[in-house]
Amino acid sequence: MSALLEIHGLGKRFGGLAANRNISFDVNEGEVVGLIGPNGAGKTTLFNCISGFFPPSSGSVRFAGQDITGWPADRVLHAGLARTFQVVRTFPDMSVRDNVIVGAFARTRRLAEARTIADELLAVTGLEYLAAAMGNSLTIAEKKRLEITRALATQPRLLMLDEAMAGLNPLERAQAVELLRTIRGRNVTIVLVEHVMEVLMPISDQVVVLDSGAKIAEGPPATIVNDPAVIAAYLGGKYRPRLEATDS
Ligand SMILES: Nc1ncnc2c1ncn2[C@@H]1O[C@H](COP(=O)(O)OP(=O)(O)OP(=O)(O)O)[C@@H](O)[C@H]1O
Ligand SMILES: [Mg+2]
Repeated sequence: MSALLEIHGLGKRFGGLAANRNISFDVNEGEVVGLIGPNGAGKTTLFNCISGFFPPSSGSVRFAGQDITGWPADRVLHAGLARTFQVVRTFPDMSVRDNVIVGAFARTRRLAEARTIADELLAVTGLEYLAAAMGNSLTIAEKKRLEITRALATQPRLLMLDEAMAGLNPLERAQAVELLRTIRGRNVTIVLVEHVMEVLMPISDQVVVLDSGAKIAEGPPATIVNDPAVIAAYLGGKYRPRLEATDS
């Protein structure tokens, strides 16, 4: 069986800058794949290339057995691949419920059906109590949760989350991890970009590491945290001791 997402030789240039260089990896259905690397490594660029926000300069993207390379974002979304944004994109002057209904419109044109989908997902992500609140009245944690809810309302097979936990306090982060486990339990495959290793490592089945636009390592978390190249490029001594401490 082939993987749900297959990235092959993907490259992206911005003028003289190679933001992504010859990146290849697979994401199997049902997995959580963590994508890590220092600031500017090319993680968001890779998300943008995969999800159709701009076309890659080279290489290919296959999703659910189809070559989706260069497809526009809305077509990728309809194929079942949704993503969230590093900088949240909540519609400020719409209610939380309407924000989610916008996502559901990717699946149905009928308002009643879109409402049903939205209400079900607001219950799943624990935002029901804010359904009537306006987008601009939410805290950052609530906005991030709303983005995830809206992405889920498109009923994706693959959800790509770009720093869904940045700026959250420890309690909010724990709640976000709980939400990721719930999403995975609904058979949604997840690709996760996150700088908080204590969050990313325990939940990831596989980790892909980027540095200066290229993949420098790939493997299960336990291998990645001990990989000298990854430690040199990103982890330093900083995360390893804490991870080992939580493992025991
Ligand atoms: N639209 C763009 N035009 C020109 N350069 C860009 C564009 N988007 C990203 N870049 C550059 O590509 C490189 C990779 O950026 P990218 O945002 O993908 O990194 P990242 O790994 O997501 O970093 P961070 O962890 O800070 O979010 C950076 O040098 C960035 O300045
Ligand atoms: Mg980024």
